[in-house]
Amino acid sequence: MSEESAARGRVLLIVSGGIAAYKVLETIRRLKQAGVAVRCVLTRGGAEFVTPLSLQALSEDRVYTDLFSLTDESEMGHIELSRQADLVVVAPASADLLAKMAAGLADDLAATVLLATDKPVLVAPAMNVRMWEHPATQDNLATLIRRGVSLIGPNEGPMACGEYGPGRLVEPADLAAAILRRLGAGAGEAEERAQPAAGPLAGRKALVTSGPTHEPIDPVRYIANRSSGRQGHAIAEALAALGAEVTLVSGPTHLPDPPGLATVRIESAEEMLAACRAALPVDIAVCAAAVADWTVKARGAAKIKKQAGGPPPALELAENPDILKTLSAPGAERPALVVGFAAETEEVAQLGAKKRARKGCDWILANDVSEGTGTFGGDENTVTLITAEGAEPWPTQTKRAVAARLAERIAAHFEDPSRTGAAGKAAE
Ligand code: CTP
Repeated sequence: MSEESAARGRVLLIVSGGIAAYKVLETIRRLKQAGVAVRCVLTRGGAEFVTPLSLQALSEDRVYTDLFSLTDESEMGHIELSRQADLVVVAPASADLLAKMAAGLADDLAATVLLATDKPVLVAPAMNVRMWEHPATQDNLATLIRRGVSLIGPNEGPMACGEYGPGRLVEPADLAAAILRRLGAGAGEAEERAQPAAGPLAGRKALVTSGPTHEPIDPVRYIANRSSGRQGHAIAEALAALGAEVTLVSGPTHLPDPPGLATVRIESAEEMLAACRAALPVDIAVCAAAVADWTVKARGAAKIKKQAGGPPPALELAENPDILKTLSAPGAERPALVVGFAAETEEVAQLGAKKRARKGCDWILANDVSEGTGTFGGDENTVTLITAEGAEPWPTQTKRAVAARLAERIAAHFEDPSRTGAAGKAAE
Protein backbone atom coordinates (compact mmCIF):
# COMPACT_ATOMS: atom_id res chain seq x y z
CA MET A 1 0.00 0.00 0.00
CA SER A 2 1.48 3.31 -0.99
CA GLU A 3 2.52 5.62 1.83
CA GLU A 4 0.78 8.75 0.64
CA SER A 5 -2.58 7.04 0.10
CA ALA A 6 -2.28 5.41 3.53
CA ALA A 7 -2.47 8.83 5.16
CA ARG A 8 -6.06 8.24 6.22
CA GLY A 9 -5.65 4.57 7.14
CA ARG A 10 -5.21 1.19 5.49
CA VAL A 11 -8.00 -1.27 4.85
CA LEU A 12 -7.70 -4.91 3.91
CA LEU A 13 -10.96 -5.59 2.10
CA ILE A 14 -12.03 -9.22 1.78
CA VAL A 15 -14.61 -9.69 -0.94
CA SER A 16 -16.54 -12.95 -0.73
CA GLY A 17 -19.21 -14.40 -3.00
CA GLY A 18 -22.56 -12.80 -3.68
CA ILE A 19 -24.30 -10.62 -6.21
CA ALA A 20 -23.77 -7.65 -3.86
CA ALA A 21 -20.03 -7.80 -4.53
CA TYR A 22 -20.53 -5.16 -7.22
CA LYS A 23 -21.25 -2.63 -4.45
CA VAL A 24 -17.71 -2.89 -3.11
CA LEU A 25 -16.40 -1.30 -6.30
CA GLU A 26 -18.17 1.96 -5.46
CA THR A 27 -17.10 1.57 -1.82
CA ILE A 28 -13.44 1.32 -2.84
CA ARG A 29 -13.81 4.40 -5.02
CA ARG A 30 -15.21 6.38 -2.08
CA LEU A 31 -12.49 5.18 0.29
CA LYS A 32 -9.74 6.04 -2.16
CA GLN A 33 -11.28 9.47 -2.63
CA ALA A 34 -11.15 9.93 1.16
CA GLY A 35 -7.45 9.06 1.14
CA VAL A 36 -7.68 5.49 2.44
CA ALA A 37 -5.35 2.81 1.10
CA VAL A 38 -7.32 -0.29 0.11
CA ARG A 39 -5.91 -3.73 -0.60
CA CYS A 40 -8.25 -6.51 -1.66
CA VAL A 41 -8.46 -10.24 -1.06
CA LEU A 42 -10.95 -11.91 -3.40
CA THR A 43 -12.41 -15.32 -2.56
CA ARG A 44 -13.17 -17.88 -5.25
CA GLY A 45 -16.89 -17.14 -4.77
CA GLY A 46 -16.27 -13.41 -4.98
CA ALA A 47 -14.42 -13.84 -8.26
CA GLU A 48 -17.65 -15.20 -9.80
CA PHE A 49 -19.17 -11.73 -9.34
CA VAL A 50 -16.35 -9.20 -9.68
CA THR A 51 -13.05 -9.58 -11.45
CA PRO A 52 -9.63 -9.14 -9.85
CA LEU A 53 -8.96 -6.59 -12.58
CA SER A 54 -11.82 -4.29 -11.48
CA LEU A 55 -10.67 -4.43 -7.86
CA GLN A 56 -7.09 -3.83 -8.88
CA ALA A 57 -7.99 -0.86 -11.08
CA LEU A 58 -9.99 0.84 -8.35
CA SER A 59 -7.72 -0.01 -5.41
CA GLU A 60 -4.57 0.70 -7.43
CA ASP A 61 -2.97 -2.26 -5.75
CA ARG A 62 -2.58 -5.92 -6.56
CA VAL A 63 -5.39 -8.28 -5.60
CA TYR A 64 -4.70 -11.42 -3.59
CA THR A 65 -6.70 -14.48 -4.49
CA ASP A 66 -4.78 -17.67 -3.88
CA LEU A 67 -3.43 -18.89 -0.57
CA PHE A 68 -1.04 -21.38 -2.10
CA SER A 69 0.54 -19.23 -4.75
CA LEU A 70 4.25 -19.39 -4.06
CA THR A 71 4.80 -15.97 -5.55
CA ASP A 72 2.16 -14.53 -3.25
CA GLU A 73 3.69 -16.23 -0.24
CA SER A 74 7.19 -15.05 -0.97
CA GLU A 75 6.09 -11.50 -1.77
CA MET A 76 3.40 -11.17 0.86
CA GLY A 77 2.57 -13.87 3.40
CA HIS A 78 -0.99 -14.11 4.64
CA ILE A 79 0.13 -12.89 8.07
CA GLU A 80 1.79 -9.88 6.50
CA LEU A 81 -1.40 -8.96 4.61
CA SER A 82 -3.32 -8.07 7.74
CA ARG A 83 -0.25 -6.79 9.56
CA GLN A 84 -0.07 -4.00 7.02
CA ALA A 85 -3.71 -2.97 7.57
CA ASP A 86 -5.41 -0.91 10.26
CA LEU A 87 -8.79 -2.53 9.70
CA VAL A 88 -9.98 -5.73 8.05
CA VAL A 89 -13.35 -5.43 6.30
CA VAL A 90 -15.35 -8.35 4.92
CA ALA A 91 -17.86 -7.13 2.32
CA PRO A 92 -19.94 -8.81 1.22
CA ALA A 93 -19.61 -11.34 4.01
CA SER A 94 -21.32 -14.51 2.79
CA ALA A 95 -23.02 -16.97 5.15
CA ASP A 96 -20.24 -19.41 4.27
CA LEU A 97 -17.40 -17.06 5.19
CA LEU A 98 -19.13 -16.04 8.44
CA ALA A 99 -19.44 -19.75 9.31
CA LYS A 100 -15.76 -20.30 8.57
CA MET A 101 -14.82 -17.31 10.74
CA ALA A 102 -16.95 -18.56 13.62
CA ALA A 103 -15.51 -22.07 13.33
CA GLY A 104 -11.92 -20.86 12.92
CA LEU A 105 -11.39 -22.57 9.57
CA ALA A 106 -8.45 -21.59 7.40
CA ASP A 107 -8.99 -23.34 4.09
CA ASP A 108 -8.44 -20.42 1.76
CA LEU A 109 -6.63 -17.10 1.83
CA ALA A 110 -9.59 -15.06 3.14
CA ALA A 111 -10.34 -17.45 6.00
CA THR A 112 -6.65 -17.77 6.85
CA VAL A 113 -6.16 -14.01 6.99
CA LEU A 114 -9.22 -13.70 9.22
CA LEU A 115 -7.96 -16.40 11.57
CA ALA A 116 -4.48 -14.91 11.71
CA THR A 117 -5.35 -11.24 12.10
CA ASP A 118 -5.14 -9.27 15.33
CA LYS A 119 -6.65 -6.18 13.70
CA PRO A 120 -10.24 -4.95 14.21
CA VAL A 121 -12.64 -6.71 11.86
CA LEU A 122 -15.83 -5.24 10.38
CA VAL A 123 -18.25 -7.56 8.55
CA ALA A 124 -20.97 -6.43 6.16
CA PRO A 125 -23.14 -9.50 5.51
CA ALA A 126 -25.18 -10.06 2.37
CA MET A 127 -27.20 -13.16 1.66
CA ASN A 128 -30.65 -14.53 1.01
CA VAL A 129 -33.10 -13.65 3.79
CA ARG A 130 -33.61 -17.31 4.81
CA MET A 131 -29.89 -17.87 5.05
CA TRP A 132 -29.60 -14.70 7.15
CA GLU A 133 -32.40 -15.76 9.46
CA HIS A 134 -31.16 -19.34 9.79
CA PRO A 135 -30.18 -20.10 13.41
CA ALA A 136 -26.78 -21.31 12.19
CA THR A 137 -25.97 -17.89 10.69
CA GLN A 138 -27.38 -16.06 13.70
CA ASP A 139 -25.36 -18.24 16.10
CA ASN A 140 -22.22 -17.65 14.04
CA LEU A 141 -22.79 -13.90 14.15
CA ALA A 142 -23.42 -13.94 17.89
CA THR A 143 -20.11 -15.78 18.31
CA LEU A 144 -18.27 -13.26 16.15
CA ILE A 145 -19.82 -10.24 17.89
CA ARG A 146 -18.90 -11.75 21.26
CA ARG A 147 -15.31 -11.99 19.99
CA GLY A 148 -15.31 -8.30 19.15
CA VAL A 149 -16.11 -8.36 15.42
CA SER A 150 -18.26 -5.37 14.40
CA LEU A 151 -21.24 -5.70 12.16
CA ILE A 152 -22.81 -3.33 9.65
CA GLY A 153 -26.08 -4.31 8.02
CA PRO A 154 -27.59 -6.12 6.38
CA ASN A 155 -30.33 -3.81 5.14
CA GLU A 156 -33.91 -4.84 4.63
CA GLY A 157 -35.52 -4.68 1.20
CA PRO A 158 -36.17 -6.50 -2.06
CA MET A 159 -33.41 -8.96 -2.88
CA ALA A 160 -31.85 -10.16 -6.11
CA CYS A 161 -33.35 -13.61 -5.41
CA GLY A 162 -36.86 -12.12 -5.54
CA GLU A 163 -37.52 -12.32 -1.81
CA TYR A 164 -37.95 -9.44 0.62
CA GLY A 165 -36.33 -8.98 4.02
CA PRO A 166 -33.02 -8.41 5.76
CA GLY A 167 -30.02 -9.64 3.79
CA ARG A 168 -29.05 -6.80 1.45
CA LEU A 169 -25.51 -5.45 1.67
CA VAL A 170 -25.48 -1.90 3.08
CA GLU A 171 -25.14 0.84 0.50
CA PRO A 172 -21.59 1.87 -0.53
CA ALA A 173 -21.87 5.36 1.03
CA ASP A 174 -22.89 3.86 4.39
CA LEU A 175 -20.23 1.17 4.24
CA ALA A 176 -17.53 3.70 3.38
CA ALA A 177 -18.72 6.01 6.21
CA ALA A 178 -18.64 3.11 8.71
CA ILE A 179 -15.12 2.18 7.61
CA LEU A 180 -13.93 5.77 7.95
CA ARG A 181 -15.51 5.97 11.40
CA ARG A 182 -13.72 2.83 12.52
CA LEU A 183 -10.42 3.91 11.08
CA GLY A 184 -10.74 6.95 13.28
CA ALA A 185 -9.14 8.75 10.38
CA GLY A 186 -12.63 10.12 9.92
CA ALA A 187 -11.78 11.63 6.57
CA GLY A 188 -15.38 11.91 5.48
CA GLU A 189 -16.68 12.08 9.01
CA ALA A 190 -14.32 14.81 10.05
CA GLU A 191 -15.39 16.82 7.04
CA GLU A 192 -19.02 16.13 7.93
CA ARG A 193 -18.43 17.32 11.49
CA ALA A 194 -16.47 20.37 10.38
CA GLN A 195 -19.61 21.69 8.74
CA PRO A 196 -22.10 22.51 11.49
CA ALA A 197 -25.22 20.36 11.14
CA ALA A 198 -28.30 22.14 9.93
CA GLY A 199 -31.76 21.75 11.45
CA PRO A 200 -33.64 22.82 14.56
CA LEU A 201 -31.62 20.48 16.81
CA ALA A 202 -28.21 21.58 15.52
CA GLY A 203 -25.83 22.05 18.42
CA ARG A 204 -27.89 19.72 20.69
CA LYS A 205 -26.57 16.40 21.91
CA ALA A 206 -28.87 13.41 22.21
CA LEU A 207 -28.58 9.96 23.71
CA VAL A 208 -30.92 7.16 22.60
CA THR A 209 -31.10 3.63 24.01
CA SER A 210 -32.48 0.92 21.77
CA GLY A 211 -33.01 -2.81 21.43
CA PRO A 212 -33.07 -5.54 24.03
CA THR A 213 -30.39 -6.38 26.54
CA HIS A 214 -28.85 -9.84 26.89
CA GLU A 215 -28.19 -10.97 30.42
CA PRO A 216 -25.54 -13.70 30.45
CA ILE A 217 -26.14 -16.98 32.27
CA ASP A 218 -22.77 -18.44 31.30
CA PRO A 219 -20.39 -17.83 28.37
CA VAL A 220 -22.83 -19.34 25.85
CA ARG A 221 -26.33 -18.66 27.21
CA TYR A 222 -28.28 -15.52 28.00
CA ILE A 223 -31.73 -14.19 28.89
CA ALA A 224 -33.19 -11.89 26.23
CA ASN A 225 -36.46 -10.36 25.01
CA ARG A 226 -38.14 -9.82 21.65
CA SER A 227 -37.33 -6.14 21.14
CA SER A 228 -36.16 -5.48 17.56
CA GLY A 229 -34.66 -2.04 18.24
CA ARG A 230 -36.58 -0.57 15.31
CA GLN A 231 -38.29 2.18 17.30
CA GLY A 232 -35.14 3.28 19.13
CA HIS A 233 -32.99 3.23 15.99
CA ALA A 234 -35.65 5.22 14.10
CA ILE A 235 -35.68 7.84 16.89
CA ALA A 236 -31.88 8.15 16.81
CA GLU A 237 -32.03 8.67 13.04
CA ALA A 238 -34.91 11.17 13.27
CA LEU A 239 -33.05 13.27 15.88
CA ALA A 240 -29.89 13.19 13.75
CA ALA A 241 -31.95 14.24 10.72
CA LEU A 242 -32.97 17.37 12.64
CA GLY A 243 -29.33 18.18 13.31
CA ALA A 244 -28.72 16.65 16.76
CA GLU A 245 -25.39 14.98 17.52
CA VAL A 246 -26.64 11.54 18.48
CA THR A 247 -25.12 8.67 20.45
CA LEU A 248 -27.12 5.49 20.02
CA VAL A 249 -26.54 2.88 22.71
CA SER A 250 -27.89 -0.34 21.31
CA GLY A 251 -28.40 -3.81 22.67
CA PRO A 252 -27.94 -6.76 20.28
CA THR A 253 -30.15 -6.24 17.20
CA HIS A 254 -30.01 -7.25 13.56
CA LEU A 255 -30.22 -3.62 12.47
CA PRO A 256 -27.30 -1.86 10.78
CA ASP A 257 -25.58 0.97 12.62
CA PRO A 258 -27.36 4.08 11.31
CA PRO A 259 -25.01 6.21 9.22
CA GLY A 260 -23.89 9.60 10.49
CA LEU A 261 -24.21 8.97 14.22
CA ALA A 262 -22.18 7.23 16.90
CA THR A 263 -23.45 3.75 17.75
CA VAL A 264 -22.20 1.99 20.87
CA ARG A 265 -23.11 -1.69 20.92
CA ILE A 266 -23.51 -3.31 24.30
CA GLU A 267 -25.05 -6.53 25.59
CA SER A 268 -26.19 -6.26 29.21
CA ALA A 269 -28.14 -3.61 31.15
CA GLU A 270 -25.05 -2.91 33.20
CA GLU A 271 -23.04 -2.21 30.03
CA MET A 272 -25.90 -0.06 28.69
CA LEU A 273 -25.85 2.11 31.80
CA ALA A 274 -22.07 2.49 31.61
CA ALA A 275 -22.27 3.50 27.93
CA CYS A 276 -25.05 6.01 28.71
CA ARG A 277 -23.03 7.54 31.52
CA ALA A 278 -20.03 7.83 29.20
CA ALA A 279 -22.18 9.73 26.67
CA LEU A 280 -23.19 12.43 29.20
CA PRO A 281 -23.63 15.36 29.22
CA VAL A 282 -26.42 15.50 26.64
CA ASP A 283 -29.45 17.76 26.16
CA ILE A 284 -31.85 14.99 25.25
CA ALA A 285 -32.12 11.38 26.42
CA VAL A 286 -34.65 8.98 24.91
CA CYS A 287 -34.81 5.55 26.55
CA ALA A 288 -36.43 3.24 24.03
CA ALA A 289 -34.53 0.08 24.97
CA ALA A 290 -36.35 -2.92 26.37
CA VAL A 291 -33.93 -3.29 29.24
CA ALA A 292 -34.13 -6.63 31.05
CA ASP A 293 -35.52 -6.08 34.53
CA TRP A 294 -33.35 -8.80 35.99
CA THR A 295 -29.90 -10.22 35.48
CA VAL A 296 -28.40 -13.51 36.60
CA LYS A 297 -26.81 -13.10 40.01
CA ALA A 298 -23.97 -15.61 39.90
CA ARG A 299 -22.89 -15.77 36.25
CA GLY A 300 -21.10 -19.05 35.40
CA ALA A 301 -17.53 -18.48 34.24
CA ALA A 302 -17.69 -21.83 32.43
CA LYS A 303 -20.56 -23.38 30.48
CA ILE A 304 -23.02 -24.95 32.90
CA LYS A 305 -23.05 -28.72 32.25
CA LYS A 306 -26.07 -31.00 32.47
CA GLN A 307 -25.89 -33.42 35.38
CA ALA A 308 -27.27 -36.75 34.15
CA GLY A 309 -30.54 -37.27 36.01
CA GLY A 310 -29.75 -34.28 38.23
CA PRO A 311 -31.93 -31.24 38.86
CA PRO A 312 -31.87 -28.32 36.40
CA PRO A 313 -29.75 -25.39 37.61
CA ALA A 314 -31.57 -22.83 39.74
CA LEU A 315 -30.96 -19.33 38.40
CA GLU A 316 -31.00 -16.62 41.02
CA LEU A 317 -31.90 -13.23 39.58
CA ALA A 318 -30.91 -9.76 40.73
CA GLU A 319 -32.59 -6.48 39.73
CA ASN A 320 -30.88 -4.50 36.98
CA PRO A 321 -30.18 -0.78 37.28
CA ASP A 322 -33.03 1.37 35.96
CA ILE A 323 -31.33 3.44 33.27
CA LEU A 324 -34.25 5.80 32.64
CA LYS A 325 -34.64 6.49 36.37
CA THR A 326 -30.90 7.01 36.77
CA LEU A 327 -30.74 9.49 33.88
CA SER A 328 -33.85 11.30 35.19
CA ALA A 329 -32.47 11.79 38.70
CA PRO A 330 -31.74 15.43 39.52
CA GLY A 331 -28.08 16.37 39.16
CA ALA A 332 -25.64 18.46 37.23
CA GLU A 333 -25.61 16.03 34.29
CA ARG A 334 -29.37 15.48 34.05
CA PRO A 335 -30.37 16.00 30.43
CA ALA A 336 -32.76 18.93 29.90
CA LEU A 337 -35.32 16.54 28.42
CA VAL A 338 -35.65 12.86 29.35
CA VAL A 339 -38.13 10.73 27.45
CA GLY A 340 -39.06 7.19 28.41
CA PHE A 341 -41.33 4.50 27.01
CA ALA A 342 -43.96 2.54 28.86
CA ALA A 343 -44.93 -0.80 27.40
CA GLU A 344 -48.41 -1.53 28.69
CA THR A 345 -51.16 -3.98 27.84
CA GLU A 346 -54.10 -2.15 29.51
CA GLU A 347 -55.03 1.33 30.78
CA VAL A 348 -52.14 2.60 28.69
CA ALA A 349 -52.49 6.33 29.47
CA GLN A 350 -53.10 5.91 33.21
CA LEU A 351 -50.28 3.46 33.76
CA GLY A 352 -48.01 5.54 31.53
CA ALA A 353 -48.67 8.64 33.66
CA LYS A 354 -47.85 6.68 36.82
CA LYS A 355 -44.65 5.39 35.24
CA ARG A 356 -43.67 8.95 34.28
CA ALA A 357 -43.95 10.01 37.91
CA ARG A 358 -42.16 6.91 39.20
CA LYS A 359 -39.22 7.27 36.83
CA GLY A 360 -38.93 11.06 37.16
CA CYS A 361 -38.69 11.60 33.40
CA ASP A 362 -40.28 14.50 31.51
CA TRP A 363 -42.25 12.66 28.86
CA ILE A 364 -43.41 9.11 28.44
CA LEU A 365 -44.47 7.50 25.19
CA ALA A 366 -46.85 4.86 26.44
CA ASN A 367 -47.33 2.14 23.88
CA ASP A 368 -49.92 -0.55 23.65
CA VAL A 369 -48.16 -3.90 23.41
CA SER A 370 -51.28 -6.00 24.03
CA GLU A 371 -51.79 -9.08 21.90
CA GLY A 372 -52.82 -8.33 18.34
CA THR A 373 -51.09 -4.93 18.14
CA GLY A 374 -47.91 -6.53 16.75
CA THR A 375 -45.82 -3.76 18.30
CA PHE A 376 -42.90 -5.95 19.36
CA GLY A 377 -40.93 -6.74 16.23
CA GLY A 378 -43.55 -5.12 13.99
CA ASP A 379 -43.42 -2.01 11.80
CA GLU A 380 -46.16 -0.02 13.51
CA ASN A 381 -46.68 1.47 16.92
CA THR A 382 -49.64 2.99 18.75
CA VAL A 383 -48.44 5.48 21.35
CA THR A 384 -49.82 8.07 23.73
CA LEU A 385 -47.51 10.98 24.58
CA ILE A 386 -47.74 11.79 28.26
CA THR A 387 -46.32 15.08 29.49
CA ALA A 388 -46.87 17.22 32.59
CA GLU A 389 -49.87 18.64 30.74
CA GLY A 390 -51.69 15.40 30.07
CA ALA A 391 -52.07 12.57 27.59
CA GLU A 392 -52.12 12.93 23.82
CA PRO A 393 -53.00 9.78 21.89
CA TRP A 394 -51.28 9.49 18.53
CA PRO A 395 -52.81 7.46 15.69
CA THR A 396 -51.33 4.06 14.85
CA GLN A 397 -48.43 4.77 12.50
CA THR A 398 -45.11 3.32 11.42
CA LYS A 399 -42.27 3.40 13.91
CA ARG A 400 -40.45 5.79 11.58
CA ALA A 401 -43.44 8.16 11.63
CA VAL A 402 -43.60 7.95 15.45
CA ALA A 403 -39.87 8.76 15.54
CA ALA A 404 -40.24 11.73 13.17
CA ARG A 405 -43.15 13.14 15.18
CA LEU A 406 -41.27 12.73 18.46
CA ALA A 407 -38.18 14.43 17.02
CA GLU A 408 -40.34 17.35 15.83
CA ARG A 409 -41.90 17.63 19.31
CA ILE A 410 -38.47 17.62 20.89
CA ALA A 411 -37.32 20.36 18.51
CA ALA A 412 -40.45 22.38 19.35
CA HIS A 413 -39.73 21.90 23.06
CA PHE A 414 -36.28 23.40 22.74
CA GLU A 415 -37.72 26.33 20.83
CA ASP A 416 -40.27 27.01 23.59
CA PRO A 417 -40.05 24.67 26.62
CA SER A 418 -43.00 26.34 28.34
CA ARG A 419 -45.43 25.12 25.67
CA THR A 420 -44.59 21.47 25.56
CA GLY A 421 -45.13 20.13 29.03
CA ALA A 422 -41.59 19.23 29.96
CA ALA A 423 -39.90 20.28 33.12
CA GLY A 424 -36.88 21.72 31.28
CA LYS A 425 -34.83 21.14 34.39
CA ALA A 426 -31.36 21.78 33.06
CA ALA A 427 -30.05 25.10 31.88
CA GLU A 428 -31.70 26.18 28.66
N1 CTP B 1 -35.99 1.14 31.50
C1 CTP B 1 -34.66 1.39 31.78
N2 CTP B 1 -33.96 0.54 32.57
C2 CTP B 1 -34.56 -0.54 33.12
C3 CTP B 1 -35.93 -0.81 32.84
C4 CTP B 1 -36.62 0.07 32.01
O1 CTP B 1 -34.11 2.36 31.27
N3 CTP B 1 -33.87 -1.36 33.88
C5 CTP B 1 -36.73 2.12 30.69
C6 CTP B 1 -37.16 1.65 29.33
O2 CTP B 1 -36.19 1.95 28.35
C7 CTP B 1 -38.43 2.45 29.11
C8 CTP B 1 -38.99 2.64 30.51
O3 CTP B 1 -37.90 2.41 31.39
O4 CTP B 1 -38.15 3.73 28.62
C9 CTP B 1 -40.12 1.77 30.94
O5 CTP B 1 -39.87 0.42 30.64
P1 CTP B 1 -40.98 -0.67 31.03
O6 CTP B 1 -40.42 -2.01 30.71
O7 CTP B 1 -42.31 -0.29 30.45
O8 CTP B 1 -41.11 -0.42 32.58
P2 CTP B 1 -40.51 -1.13 33.80
O9 CTP B 1 -39.73 -0.12 34.58
O10 CTP B 1 -39.75 -2.36 33.41
O11 CTP B 1 -41.83 -1.47 34.61
P3 CTP B 1 -42.88 -2.67 34.41
O12 CTP B 1 -42.25 -3.67 33.50
O13 CTP B 1 -43.10 -3.14 35.77
O14 CTP B 1 -44.11 -2.01 33.82
